[in-house]
Amino acid sequence: MDIEKIRQDFPLFKTDINGKPIVYFDNACQTLRPRTVINAISEYYEKYPACGGRSSHKLANTVTRKCEEARKTIAKFIGAKRKEEIIFTRNTTEGINLIANSLELNRGDIVVTTDKEHNSNLIPWQILAEKKGVIHKIVPSKPDNSFDLEKFKEIMEESRGDVKLTAMVFTSNLDGATIPAKEIIKISHQYGAKVLLDAAQAAPHQKIDADKLDADFMAFSGHKMLGPSGIGILYGKHRLLEKLEPFLTGGDTVEYSTYGGHKFLPPPEKFEAGLQDYAGIIGLGEAIKYLEKIGLKNIAAQEYKLNKFITEEIAEIPRLKIIGPTNPASRGGIISFYIEDVDSHQIALILDETANVMIRSGQHCAHSWFNSRGIKGSARASLYFYNTLDECRVFVQNLKKIIDVLN
Ligand code: ALA
Repeated sequence: MDIEKIRQDFPLFKTDINGKPIVYFDNACQTLRPRTVINAISEYYEKYPACGGRSSHKLANTVTRKCEEARKTIAKFIGAKRKEEIIFTRNTTEGINLIANSLELNRGDIVVTTDKEHNSNLIPWQILAEKKGVIHKIVPSKPDNSFDLEKFKEIMEESRGDVKLTAMVFTSNLDGATIPAKEIIKISHQYGAKVLLDAAQAAPHQKIDADKLDADFMAFSGHKMLGPSGIGILYGKHRLLEKLEPFLTGGDTVEYSTYGGHKFLPPPEKFEAGLQDYAGIIGLGEAIKYLEKIGLKNIAAQEYKLNKFITEEIAEIPRLKIIGPTNPASRGGIISFYIEDVDSHQIALILDETANVMIRSGQHCAHSWFNSRGIKGSARASLYFYNTLDECRVFVQNLKKIIDVLN
């Protein structure tokens, strides 16, 4: 991979703030967008700013065609059997909420999650517990914060038959650790449970083969994989989507309506109520094409190289603790760390202020994990394939200086 050439595709790298380049290490929140994605969005507004799937004039037909092409590109990217298994949503959160609201879950039914879910995959189950008496069970992680498959098996065995859904974060936004999804899915299916994966931090970083993986549902977001913000995907097996009731209803979800009733369209249309984010959909299609060109293996290799460098460099900082597995190979592009009695927000603020190094600090929408352990928060650097070793050096040098002062 020629990183310097790749970086030329990202307009932000041409920008300086106060005469210094930007070191963007907040990719788990949002990635940057290449020129092709930005152009695709502008092109929609400039050349065919019309509705898709409704009117049949030339502009509308272009929108419909481009959106369906994007759907096809995304389906192929994640190994879905057919493009109708791809539902456009606003983001991962909306995809998970769709399942929480549409899957038949009743009193006494169990939903199993990990103990480090993003609020997006925690609050919907807490609401179902409050409103419907659904039971939420949590698999505690191992001491190194990796997934405890034996514990999971015990929970499945003791709940025999009552677990209706295993809903888990595929790759954690907290520490970058990935769960053994294939085994989890196999075990869940043996006990009759469906599986929903929060793939927001997985789809941008590793090859997903939906068909081989056999997950029933998977949600992910455009903004974490070079796409526009406000567009996301819910993948679902077609035969399950056919049976699922839509969560949002309205325009373009039905074949017809009368004063007395309606007939829903087949998936994905019945789940895509109202006017869609056409520019977002088309932009996401372009983002996926770009990722395919780079190659997910190359992406993972670059993340590992950078993560290894940072991990080794910061290991020598006294009292600094990295959250998650010690081996950077098990943490993708994420280095989440804290030092007791040092405010992680201070670290992030000073890095930004003095060196334009942009990371995230706090509890990363995984408050439950931090609160249960009495940890106030962490500073999180999250990398992507366009980041460089030089940027990592700037990060490490500045971090060491800041910690010397704050300690
Ligand atoms: N889930 C996103 C993050 O971890 C917002 O930053």
